Amino acid sequence: MNQRRRRIYEGKAKILYEGPEPGTLIVHYKDDATAHNAQKKAVIEGKGVINNRISELIFNRLNEIGLPTHFIKRLNMREQLIREVEIIPLEVIVRNVAAGTLSKRLGLDEGTVLPRSIIEFCYKNDELGDPLVAEEHVTAFGWATPQELDDIMALSIRINDFLSGLFLGIGIKLVDFKLEFGRLFENDTVRVVLADEISPDSCRLWDLQTSDKLDKDRFRRDLGGLVEAYQEVARRLGILTESNNGERSKPVLVKSD
Ligand code: C5P
Repeated sequence: MNQRRRRIYEGKAKILYEGPEPGTLIVHYKDDATAHNAQKKAVIEGKGVINNRISELIFNRLNEIGLPTHFIKRLNMREQLIREVEIIPLEVIVRNVAAGTLSKRLGLDEGTVLPRSIIEFCYKNDELGDPLVAEEHVTAFGWATPQELDDIMALSIRINDFLSGLFLGIGIKLVDFKLEFGRLFENDTVRVVLADEISPDSCRLWDLQTSDKLDKDRFRRDLGGLVEAYQEVARRLGILTESNNGERSKPVLVKSD
């Protein structure tokens, strides 16, 4: 890693560096895992490399269907080149099946299929523990304008439809996931684009046949086997091949151009 690069921000799972051109940044995926607002922490070797590859694949596919994102390209095993955006301070959660905090809050059994997909907003604020907020709060406090909120909802629904199909095709149920959006300033215009990452750190992914968890709940709930689960997602997405002696336990990363 080039140590002379200016570090702009260090988050729980990623570091942001100044990019090579104005208006670009480099994001570095760490192996750190946190849960319950960072009360639980661990370093899980290899997690950052897999998330970098999974997020790359998903953002490339979204760019290909014309969905605007901050992603430009992957640079190496742990880093991506992205467009600099002004992050909108919301965690946008899309749910298809009850799980996690929704199940707890409303007393729904995990796995209950929701009557329709639900979008929730949390205010991004670690000190407050990212509280759930209503659309009214978002616009009243100016975290996003009504037009931006409309754009965020329309993009989130498209992303959900696309990802649900992508994962279904590889035998995985997309239970829920978290998105972040940012404002991209270009010439005299500003538009909302998808930012952050989409990976098993930010999604709930259940095996369609067995309902095995292939996501960060393995860490949150002390189930173990997190890297193996993330590798399984990567393998099904075609990112990993099994080593040539056929050992499933030792997948190798496929080099991309
Ligand atoms: O915890 P909860 O059930 O609200 O999480 C809903 C979804 O959002 C899960 O897929 C979880 O991984 C994701 N999430 C996240 N980062 C957070 C909170 C939730 O990626 N800070």
